[in-house]
Amino acid sequence: MKTHLQNGQVIDDSVPQGDNEAVAGKVVSGSVIHIQNLRKEYASVAGVVPVLHGLNMEVMPGEFVAIMGASGSGKSTLMNILGCLDIATSGSYFLKGRDVTALDRDSLAHLRNDLIGFVFQGFNLLPRASLLDNVALPLVYSKVSREERVVRASDMLSKVGLAKYRDSRPNQISGGQQQRVAIARALVNRPKLLLADEPTGNLDSHTSHEIMNLFKELNERDGITIVLITHEVEVAAYAHRLVRLADGHIVYDGSSHIPQGDNEGTMSKNSTESSAAAHSTS
Ligand SMILES: Nc1ncnc2c1ncn2[C@@H]1O[C@H](COP(=O)(O)OP(=O)(O)OP(=O)(O)O)[C@@H](O)[C@H]1O
Ligand SMILES: [Mg+2]
Repeated sequence: MKTHLQNGQVIDDSVPQGDNEAVAGKVVSGSVIHIQNLRKEYASVAGVVPVLHGLNMEVMPGEFVAIMGASGSGKSTLMNILGCLDIATSGSYFLKGRDVTALDRDSLAHLRNDLIGFVFQGFNLLPRASLLDNVALPLVYSKVSREERVVRASDMLSKVGLAKYRDSRPNQISGGQQQRVAIARALVNRPKLLLADEPTGNLDSHTSHEIMNLFKELNERDGITIVLITHEVEVAAYAHRLVRLADGHIVYDGSSHIPQGDNEGTMSKNSTESSAAAHSTS
């Protein structure tokens, strides 16, 4: 992959399409995510609105992190920046050792495609396409051949237990199954990092646990690093580490085993070292 830096420098990794291991070969530091003094402001008619106030966070390979916080605390804003869908106003963001703030739009899109899978609250499936074609969609952007797309999408549908529905349409399966398809789609490019913004937000509690068990398996068995936003303590409990946001500040960063009666993010900041997961993949 050729990465064009804003200063005109070009990094050529000579990466075969879809080979994420080779992309990861250019790592500068060991972390998957490293943000420092990250700020985000939005311009509005009333003036500049600060949303993220200088966040610092490091996520190591194999970690499973839950992000919690009240509505409007900045969770999705942070997630969109981590996922290279949006850029910070200031501060630094290193994704697998690469300085994201130095990349132009095209390079950012490449990096995103190579390293990150997304799962959203709304499943965002194409209603008229088969489940197989839905899952294969990211591979079209990666210019993978039709033959290989079918093989890889079928494998992913099997992985999430939906192989026999490959020719069905999204409206022919349940909400939990649709979220499984969305997870299969997020994984089809073999990402190292899975970002999920309230993936169980539209699901009943039984189905939420099924989906969370799938995330747990992906983290523990496949070593995929996961960062997931949730409003539910039971969902956050699947993660090893909890980060709490309040008004654009990190007010807690530590174990996801929350002491009883303290769900409002008032705990003091812990070292993130203590929660680094044991399932390192790099
Ligand atoms: N594009 C935008 N322009 C202006 N303000 C925005 C924009 N996006 C988000 N905000 C503001 O930033 C703040 C944080 O929004 P964000 O969506 O990150 O919250 P959240 O923690 O994800 O909330 P929820 O739990 O409701 O999803 C809110 O006050 C919101 O109004
Ligand atoms: Mg949100």
